[in-house]
Order: sequence, then C-alpha cells, then structure tokens
Amino acid sequence: MTNSRSNRRDFIKGAGALAAVSALPLSTVELAFADSTKNFTFAYISDAHIQHIKGSEFVRNWDRGLIRAVAETNLLQPKPDFVMFGGDLAQLGTKAELDHGKAMLDRLQYKTHMVMGEHDYYLDLGAYWSELFGPHYYSFDHKGVHFVVLNSIITYDEWTHERWPTPEQRMLEMAGLDNPNGSPFMVGEKQRQWLAKDLEGVAKTTPVVLFSHSPIQKIYKGWNFWTEDAEEIQALLQPFADATVVYGHVHQIQYNQIGNISFHAVMATAWPWPYPQSYVQAESLLPKLTVPMNRADPFFERDATGWQFIDLASGRVAMEYNLYNNTNRRVAFNPTTGQPEDTAYQAVGSRIAPQTHY
Ligand SMILES: [Fe+2]
Ligand SMILES: [Fe+2]
Repeated sequence: MTNSRSNRRDFIKGAGALAAVSALPLSTVELAFADSTKNFTFAYISDAHIQHIKGSEFVRNWDRGLIRAVAETNLLQPKPDFVMFGGDLAQLGTKAELDHGKAMLDRLQYKTHMVMGEHDYYLDLGAYWSELFGPHYYSFDHKGVHFVVLNSIITYDEWTHERWPTPEQRMLEMAGLDNPNGSPFMVGEKQRQWLAKDLEGVAKTTPVVLFSHSPIQKIYKGWNFWTEDAEEIQALLQPFADATVVYGHVHQIQYNQIGNISFHAVMATAWPWPYPQSYVQAESLLPKLTVPMNRADPFFERDATGWQFIDLASGRVAMEYNLYNNTNRRVAFNPTTGQPEDTAYQAVGSRIAPQTHY
C-alpha cells in the first residue's frame, strides 16, 4: 500500500464542497493502495447517546446529531463501501432507545457494522442489542484489510451480576462517567482467545484495523478512558506491520503510538468530553501519554464534534478532522518519529493554548 496523494486530494476536494454545507459528526475512511483501483472508503459515526424522555419523546439534540450524520453519509461522494457505528447508540440501553436509534441508522444506504458501547450494554448485557444487530465481536475482510470488532466494555462478573439490586441500577452506575461506582472496562479472556485464533490466519503483512468502544490503552481509569487488559490485546497486534486501533467513547480527538500500534479516537455525534487533565486532579493519576495533544473546549458544545476522513496510507491511518467552527486538523503518522502527530499544531510553539476549567 502506498499513499495515493492525488486520489486523496480529489476525495478531500469533493468533501470540501460538502463541508461548506455543514460540518458533520461522522468520519469517512479512505484506504489508499498502490493500485488505485483497489482504493475504498468507509464512514464512521459514533456515540449518538439516543436518550428516551417519555412516550415518544427523545432528547432532541442527540437525535439531531445522528440524523445529520446519517443524512450526510448518504450524500457522500465517493460512496463509502460500508459504515461503522462506534458504540453508545443508546444512553440507558432501553429497547425504546435502541429501536429509535436503529430506525435512524436504517436510513443508511450502506452495510453498517456495529460496535458495542457501555450505554448499550449494561441494562440487559447486550441481549436486545444482539437481537437488532448481531454478535458482540466479530471480524471481516474487505479489499485486503482485516477488520476486527471487539466488545471492550465488559467488566468483572461480581460487579456485573452480584453488586446491584436491579439491572436499571447497574446501568445507571456504569452510565456515570466520573462515578466511582463504575468498574474498569475490559475485553476479557474469552474474546482474547477468540482474537488470538482469528489473527492466526492473517498474514503479518496484512493491515489490521481493530474497532473498539473503549481505547485499547490506559488513559484515565477514573472515567474509563481505559481497558484493563489493554496490554494483552496490544501484544496480539504488535506482530503486524500495520496495526491501528480506532475507538469511540472518549468523544474527542485523541491519538497515541504504542510500539507498532497507532491509536486514533473518533468524535461523537452527541457532545464532546473534556480531556481529563482539564479537571483539577492529582497529576499522578494521569499516565504519561507518548504524544502531546491539543484539547477540545468542553464548554463549547460543538468543539470536538465534526467529521473526519481516515486515510489509511501505507497501512497507517491519517485522520482529517473537519471540526465545527474550529480549525480543521490533520493527524498523520510521521515516519521520522514513528508516531501520529498533528501536522500543523504538534510543535509546542504552535500549539493551541489549553483551556482551563474548574
Ligand atoms: Fe459515549
Ligand atoms: Fe462509552
């Protein structure tokens, strides 16, 4: 795979016209091959948090975020080959929320692959979600790339099955971002064994893209920007020449590099989260991130929401973020430093000043 610059430029030019109409909370992904007839794109929508109020009433803002993303995805040129939905379709995992969210997603004119979020899961442990969307974890191949979807938001059996008097209580406890009653997310042994077996048959030169809801890395445990068994999943990906993890859940731009694996977050259609460091808290609670990042403004509802192209050139992801009322950003793998970097704002001198709140 090599970077197909002219194709990407044409693609972005087409998208630029679209962006002039509205900036969107979705992602499109281009995989550029040396043989440009093999190029393809896919779209990425995440974290809709459809929230039921009562009767036929739902939180209007969250509905509108998803409706816009779906409508604009249907208008994309070139047409994406498929759509990923990155988890947290619902807010409290109810049938009403999942049905309402599915009705909106059903308007997509493309095959849609789903990722499980904790807000979809903790009411009935993914039972109704499965009726609607299928298995919690799976893999598929598309035009020379191996894609894997994991359910990365499960936790200890004791916490899940014994601690709470009702499923509703369990859901509420896990739904609170900074609630100390939450429990660390993990993938778990069953899926890790499945993943090891799934990857056994994949050539080490095949690009592998893993989709999860929580980051497969340990960013901040207090908010579950965290996966307890992240290192074990990472170890399974390290042998591949081109491995990328794309995750939702954090509702903001994030990127990182651990060994051979690049990490990228996608934005939400609902709202942006701040980065944990913008809260006043003990410095020691924050692990060292290997790549410094600019932060979104959590008090600006549409900062860190928007849409992005993901260009998987030479097997490495380059994210083209198109932000609402904010400067567009490009985060791309820098072969010189061996990590993803913001191509305009990575240097300390050109960084956007961090916002301080609280
Ligand atoms: Fe979310
Ligand atoms: Fe989430």
